[in-house]
Amino acid sequence: MNSYLWWQTGVIYQIYPRSFKDTNADGIGDLQGVIEKLDYLNQILGIDAIWLSPFYPSPMADFGYDVANYCDVDPIFGTLEDLDKLIFEAHSRDIRIIIDWVPNHTSDQHPWFQDSRSSRNHPKRNWYVWRDSKPETGGPPNNWLAVFGGSAWEWDETTGQYYLHSFLKEQPDLNWRNPDVKAAMFDTIRFWLERGVDGFRVDVAHYIMKDPKYRDNPPASPGEKSFHRPHGQYDTQHHLYDKGHPDVHAVYREFRTILDEYSTAKPRMSVGEIHIYNFAELVKYYGTPEIGLEFHMPFNFSLLKPEWNAQSFRKLVDKFEATLPAWAWPNYVLSNHDEGRIASRYGKEQARVAAMLVLTLRGTPTIYYGEEIGMTDVKIPQSQQLDPFGLRVPGLGRDRCRTPMQWDASPNAGFSHSGTSKPWLPVSDQYPTINVARELGDRLSTLNLYRNLLTIRKSSPALQWGSYTPLDNVPADCFVYLREAKGQRFLTALNFSSESQVLHLSNFVEAKIVLSTYLDRDETIDLKKFALRENEGILIQLGN
Ligand code: NOJ
Ligand code: CA
Repeated sequence: MNSYLWWQTGVIYQIYPRSFKDTNADGIGDLQGVIEKLDYLNQILGIDAIWLSPFYPSPMADFGYDVANYCDVDPIFGTLEDLDKLIFEAHSRDIRIIIDWVPNHTSDQHPWFQDSRSSRNHPKRNWYVWRDSKPETGGPPNNWLAVFGGSAWEWDETTGQYYLHSFLKEQPDLNWRNPDVKAAMFDTIRFWLERGVDGFRVDVAHYIMKDPKYRDNPPASPGEKSFHRPHGQYDTQHHLYDKGHPDVHAVYREFRTILDEYSTAKPRMSVGEIHIYNFAELVKYYGTPEIGLEFHMPFNFSLLKPEWNAQSFRKLVDKFEATLPAWAWPNYVLSNHDEGRIASRYGKEQARVAAMLVLTLRGTPTIYYGEEIGMTDVKIPQSQQLDPFGLRVPGLGRDRCRTPMQWDASPNAGFSHSGTSKPWLPVSDQYPTINVARELGDRLSTLNLYRNLLTIRKSSPALQWGSYTPLDNVPADCFVYLREAKGQRFLTALNFSSESQVLHLSNFVEAKIVLSTYLDRDETIDLKKFALRENEGILIQLGN
């Protein structure tokens, strides 16, 4: 028996509920739709946990990341009973449920904010961040910018002060320095833990603590970006003071204590959304066993950054492995609802190599819905875009990677049963070929590649929790690594180039290919000399 937990050995699958499966023909995915597809996720695909993007009551200014009630379900998605049913049905299939928790900001329609903005004397005034205008200019209190563009401060006529919003003005930032806010937010965590959820994905986790002196951010250094991808005006500053104040760690230590209390019944987990690409900084969000643990994992977004080449990927993996404390658990992410889809960022063949990479590295992989069938971004004309980021900063919209899941070749790709309803975002015109039903019947499909990878991983101690050792002396276009546990050894050999590559790995003798990203070979090979075809990854099981 190994002592690894479900969130370490398992594979997480992110569902953006609006886009997964619509069961009442209103063009928007719902919780009932997720329930309908549990057998697909479990029996056909083989994932272990679902991360559900927000389903809370929300005016949907940021499609659910503007929460108006942390303890309920928006009628668009269903009811609290549907969510209970989802938790029950998932658990009965051994699927864990991770929900999104959005602590940095609420919706401006949240009763807390309504109270807070009602008068300067309201007891909830200090639940949000209110400041006077700057005396010298009469303008905003400082130069902080909102991630989605413009000032992070919004003037409120009623009480004559500015409030802080790191994202949209419809998403006012909570004041986490107020103990009442902390207590109320921690109660929302308890609410869901009591209801049986297994974990939380914490939205922009590091944003909750800012400089208590509200100092101006300095300008960005030339070429500096705040995220790995452009963020327009936001990139003009070095975001020193408006997020990630060191006081943040004490909050997450407390947060972790709550999760740990509930973990005696069954293990719970937390994963923080933290776009920090400096590993030494990032790993601080694991906490320490001495001072106190924080997140079970902060998302490791580093692989979203590099161009597609073997050296860059290897360097990042090696550096992450080297920085991670021995007791901490790694993880990898290749895409989500904010990023472009892998097949569009890197290409169709490359996406298959990326799948093998993320599913054979050491650490928990998170797959974004639709990646398993090779879904691509959908180009949506500016006039039809809905994402507030894309509306404010043309070119940076995220609708393209949030389009409906492609289930089959029927109208609306089977996302919405009735062919008459109009999905909230257009369905990709590639759905007649890129869809679950067709790919299940195609031995060589991307879906079958994922299924194979997931099946092999599930039964392999080496892949689930074995050591990671990169191999030198391989062609510069290849990334090759060994995974080993309990005498079981797997070698992953990935060719990042569009030319075939010859490898000489004389240290190993007996070797059998168990999987190629082409899905067409499973022969024994001589590692002294073997070739990888263009954009091919292979998984090799080694004898002793
Ligand atoms: C990060 C989420 O992933 C993104 O979709 C959202 O817009 C922002 N946080 C604000 O909550
Ligand atoms: Ca619906």
